[in-house]
Amino acid sequence: MVITNLQLPFTMTQLPVYLAILFFLLAAWFAWQYYDLKKRIDDYTKQIRDTDGSFPADVRKIENLSNAIASFKKTFDLRLSTLKSQNERLATVLEQLTDGVIIVDANGLIQFANPASQRLFETSSALGRSVTEVLRNHQLVEAWRRCQQTGEMQSESVELPARRQFLQVIAIPDTHASGSLLLVQDLTRVRRLETVRRDFISNISHELRTPLASLKALTETLQGGALSDPEAGPRFLGRIHAEVDALTQMAQELLDLSRIESGQVELILTPLEPRKLLNSAADRMKLQAERAGLNLHVHCADDLQSVRVDKARLEQVLVNLIHNAVKFTKPGGEITLEAESTSGGVLFAVRDSGVGIPSESLSRIFERFYRVDRSRTGSGTGLGLSISRHIVEAHGGRIWANSREGEGSVFYFEIPIV
Ligand SMILES: Nc1ncnc2c1ncn2[C@@H]1O[C@H](COP(=O)(O)OP(=O)(O)OP(=O)(O)O)[C@@H](O)[C@H]1O
Ligand SMILES: [Mg+2]
Repeated sequence: MVITNLQLPFTMTQLPVYLAILFFLLAAWFAWQYYDLKKRIDDYTKQIRDTDGSFPADVRKIENLSNAIASFKKTFDLRLSTLKSQNERLATVLEQLTDGVIIVDANGLIQFANPASQRLFETSSALGRSVTEVLRNHQLVEAWRRCQQTGEMQSESVELPARRQFLQVIAIPDTHASGSLLLVQDLTRVRRLETVRRDFISNISHELRTPLASLKALTETLQGGALSDPEAGPRFLGRIHAEVDALTQMAQELLDLSRIESGQVELILTPLEPRKLLNSAADRMKLQAERAGLNLHVHCADDLQSVRVDKARLEQVLVNLIHNAVKFTKPGGEITLEAESTSGGVLFAVRDSGVGIPSESLSRIFERFYRVDRSRTGSGTGLGLSISRHIVEAHGGRIWANSREGEGSVFYFEIPIV
């Protein structure tokens, strides 16, 4: 549709005048609205004000209450955030703690268990389960039960042979929730160190007692007249000499060991080809091996990369290992020295076809004075492997052994390439 004859009630020149009037009317309406609202608020304020112009007591009370609520909220927010951060800190401590923490309610159900406790009891979900089910040990459960019954702290230590663990549990009564708190400590390492120390002391006294007793017997015999015997005198003196040599060697080994252990020995590192190291150790031990009726071989590629080692000390490790192989292999047996590259360094091995080592002793042979079976070990104080381990570890490497009784043993040590 087309509008052809649209008639406006004013001419285009009159338009601004009409617009100005419209604007004026609108402004007047808004002004009046504002004035009306303000008047109503003022009237209302007047109504609730007392005659002296102040607010009535009720309104003041409400105002005070509102201020109190506002400041209470502020304090509450502050406390909440402090509690939150304390809670987070506590959670981190419980998570990182190596000791286990378990909270058990009055019915014997676990309400909380930190990761260490789940690790120690080899469970992934202790929450909500019964304490008997998780501890799986009669003595530990009894300790918890005693604590519940007497309301007094109880402590129990148990050895779990199946898991090769030694655990101590302290049950503390929780007076608020009538349950208990269980603290679990893994004493396996401590116990092991205690055993090693006890063995060390008994071994060293035994090792000293034997040569000292022979020295005493020999000197007494000499004093008793053997000194003037032209044949027995020199023989006894020769034996005294040998005993003193053995004692000196033991003292030297102990000194070496304590120096290496306390990090007092400085390594003189030089680049060395693995093959050269094997050959020079083999040369030193060849005669001994031949005398024992054994074949000593070296198997090593020519192009193995060099390692930075203290040659004298690492050769001592190889000599100790070959010496053991010679001692514990029957005539006609084989001893092989090997070296090969690994992803991080060079792996050395001393292989023998000897008597082997029982599996329960494999983890202990590197301890000071440990000897598998004293009756089968001719000479030796049980320090060789311990010294070797420290030398290898001082190079940043590690040493271990594989063996089967009656079939032979392989001693490995790996030196990293840095
Ligand atoms: N190649 C081997 N075959 C069988 N048993 C071994 C072998 N090497 C070590 N052992 C066992 O490990 C024990 C510890 O060895 P280690 O070299 O520390 O002491 P040792 O040879 O008895 O004395 P030392 O080395 O101080 O003269 C030995 O007594 C032996 O029982
Ligand atoms: Mg030895």
